[in-house]
Amino acid sequence: MEITSLKLFSFRNFDNLELFFSKYKNIIIGNNGVGKTNIVEAIFVLALTKSFRTNDDDILIKDGNNLYKIEANIKSNFINNYKIVYQDGNKVVKINNNKINKFSDYISNINIVLFSINDLKLIKDTPNTRRKLINLEISQLNNNYIKYLNYYNKILKQRNSYLKTLYKKQVNLDYLNVIDNQLIDYGLKIKDLRLDFVNKINLIISDIYLKLGGNNKLNIYYKTDYDMYTKEQLLDIYVNNINKDISFGSTQFGIHKDDFIFNMNDKDFKNYGSEGQQKNSIIAFKLAELEIFKDKTGEYPILILDDLFSELDIKKIEKILNYINKDVQTFITTTDLKKIKKSYLKSSKIFELNGVEVKEDLYE
Ligand SMILES: Nc1ncnc2c1ncn2[C@@H]1O[C@H](COP(=O)(O)OP(=O)(O)OP(=O)(O)O)[C@@H](O)[C@H]1O
Ligand SMILES: [Mg+2]
Repeated sequence: MEITSLKLFSFRNFDNLELFFSKYKNIIIGNNGVGKTNIVEAIFVLALTKSFRTNDDDILIKDGNNLYKIEANIKSNFINNYKIVYQDGNKVVKINNNKINKFSDYISNINIVLFSINDLKLIKDTPNTRRKLINLEISQLNNNYIKYLNYYNKILKQRNSYLKTLYKKQVNLDYLNVIDNQLIDYGLKIKDLRLDFVNKINLIISDIYLKLGGNNKLNIYYKTDYDMYTKEQLLDIYVNNINKDISFGSTQFGIHKDDFIFNMNDKDFKNYGSEGQQKNSIIAFKLAELEIFKDKTGEYPILILDDLFSELDIKKIEKILNYINKDVQTFITTTDLKKIKKSYLKSSKIFELNGVEVKEDLYE
């Protein structure tokens, strides 16, 4: 998959910007704060309808304006035009100028794998953050995933509001049974897709980590309440837990509590791995995703490495860049070209941001 051109209107610090990308390697260079991440953020927003940096779309609108627009031509088997417009709290997505009403039908179309500093949260942050990050990854791979998640969350909300009415009242077990049945059905579907994703990652992540110069075993442990239970057993669990749920006023058991734990040598990485190892393992995770997309769709997704190089040494950077298959369209943002090998630069299209204009050139 390849993004051939990108147009921004009133997005972040850009009024009007149009860029034409190389099929292979693209490097965006410039000082801190010139808008490098803003450009790759726009690609991300176009693909996933939301940013990886904020949930607030208003902040993406250029100061003083009242809408943002992102448009790109994306080449897969054919070239398609994708557009997202946000105005007055309302987001519209279009493919070839046809409005797509359900975001869940839209999101699996543009496949991107992005590494940013934000991804270190996969290790350091709360289960909630990890679930959100992994949800974004799986929803690109399977367009049913968001649908299941939306249904699940809707039913969960319904169940929780029912629980809140139950304090010192008789439970209507028939009603609860109807809700629990639906909750479990969607929960099991979500669990299967999460498990499948994690299993696929685990098959290759250690090998990739090894190729990047690490020598420890990596794996992701998928921790879920639904592990090993049949639907009947799960129904019983919900009934048995009902008093606890009522006292909390919310459902305490289910896939909304899932977690993904990054392990090194079978120990939780958070307390075991060094900073550098943590960063490298997330990179290995992202590179593993490239292969999973390739297996699923027959082509590589677009790879974005945002500010990957700031804390890595030149040798490590070289290993990472060498690993990436040459057919992958790659975007790199950096403040410092010196970190990248000459031969890599020579075959890259370089976009130089200086706050006023973007200079496009092939490196000489
Ligand atoms: N809504 C907005 N309107 C105008 N400017 C904005 C808006 N949001 C962010 N900016 C500006 O965008 C700039 C940050 O851009 P970005 O994060 O892309 O920088 P960067 O080039 O990636 O920097 P670094 O090298 O530090 O990562 C800031 O200068 C900020 O003032
Ligand atoms: Mg940045």
